[in-house]
Amino acid sequence: MPSEKKALAVIGAGIMGAGLAQLFAQNGYAVRLHDLSEDALTQAVESARINLRMQSDFGWIEPSAVDEALRNIETTTSLSDSVAEVFFVIEAVPEVLALKKEVFDNLGKISPPDAVLASNTSTFDVMSEMPEDIAGRVLITHFFNPAQLVPLVEVVKGERTSDGAVETSMELLRAVGKYPLLLKRYLPGFVVNRIQLSINAMAFMILNEGIVEPEDIDKAIENSISLRLAVGGPFATMDLGGLDVMAASAQAMGVPPPPPLAERVERGDLGVKTGKGFYDYAGASSDDVIKRRDYRLMLLLDAYRKGLDE
Ligand SMILES: NC(=O)c1ccc[n+]([C@@H]2O[C@H](COP(=O)([O-])OP(=O)(O)OC[C@H]3O[C@@H](n4cnc5c(N)ncnc54)[C@H](O)[C@@H]3O)[C@@H](O)[C@H]2O)c1
Repeated sequence: MPSEKKALAVIGAGIMGAGLAQLFAQNGYAVRLHDLSEDALTQAVESARINLRMQSDFGWIEPSAVDEALRNIETTTSLSDSVAEVFFVIEAVPEVLALKKEVFDNLGKISPPDAVLASNTSTFDVMSEMPEDIAGRVLITHFFNPAQLVPLVEVVKGERTSDGAVETSMELLRAVGKYPLLLKRYLPGFVVNRIQLSINAMAFMILNEGIVEPEDIDKAIENSISLRLAVGGPFATMDLGGLDVMAASAQAMGVPPPPPLAERVERGDLGVKTGKGFYDYAGASSDDVIKRRDYRLMLLLDAYRKGLDE
């Protein structure tokens, strides 16, 4: 937590802006929350209050931390007031490129010249759209809804983004407890939304087969891979299942194993059972790796079942 409150601005107080303001405020930053609409600002603070109380009821924060955090949020309908003396600005206005460009144009004119200008865009390569004078300080920090809770933030650097702007952003994100993932370049949908898109596309294809209903697919996912992926991503999960098994299963579904998978199978690097796959298990026994996965899954199942009972 910073010793002296550092100020940052959140532009747009909708679903994401409200969560962002709460997140930074509860981590001790002075947040200037800007929106054109007074109603949006009032609602954003109200939603932060509700979420903070929920965290306090849950035992994550002290009851006194609710008001402390709310006191760190200043709302304003003036863009220039919001960015005075800030070191970081994040825009979360609607996903309309022309609107985002307009906001960045204005920020370029009125924000402190060394302030990082971040966009929470889900899709646009805003960096390539920027005029030369601000391009060095523009980047994407893509939070997930609800921003105050989901740990991952995808950080996307443009060709002209300075290393300093990236470092400031990564440092800030770590300071508020996030897991920032730096992408070496822009790719539409970044990492996670592309993976989500492929899951959704397959869900539609299965639906089209007429063998299950949408709620059946949702229940199937909730009761299987959503839990398993919470304790290990696709590559760790493939390593645990065995890469030879994964390659054969892909083949059986008419998908030739992609080269990184086929090459490992060819070499005999089959995952946990051979000590090496996508990861090197550095001599850890396969039993130990499996036990660690199972322990984490049991913790999660405990919480999941508790949630189902409430
Ligand atoms: N909603 C999500 O799940 C989600 C997740 C990740 C990223 N995003 C991205 O975050 C951004 C914001 O999304 P959202 O869902 O919070 O939108 P939203 O519609 O809930 O909120 C946008 C807010 O911006 C305000 N606004 C509009 N024009 C403005 C301007 N010129 N200056 C200041 N404020 C202005 C609106 O009054 C509104 O309160 C988008 O780029 C979106 O793609 C959204």
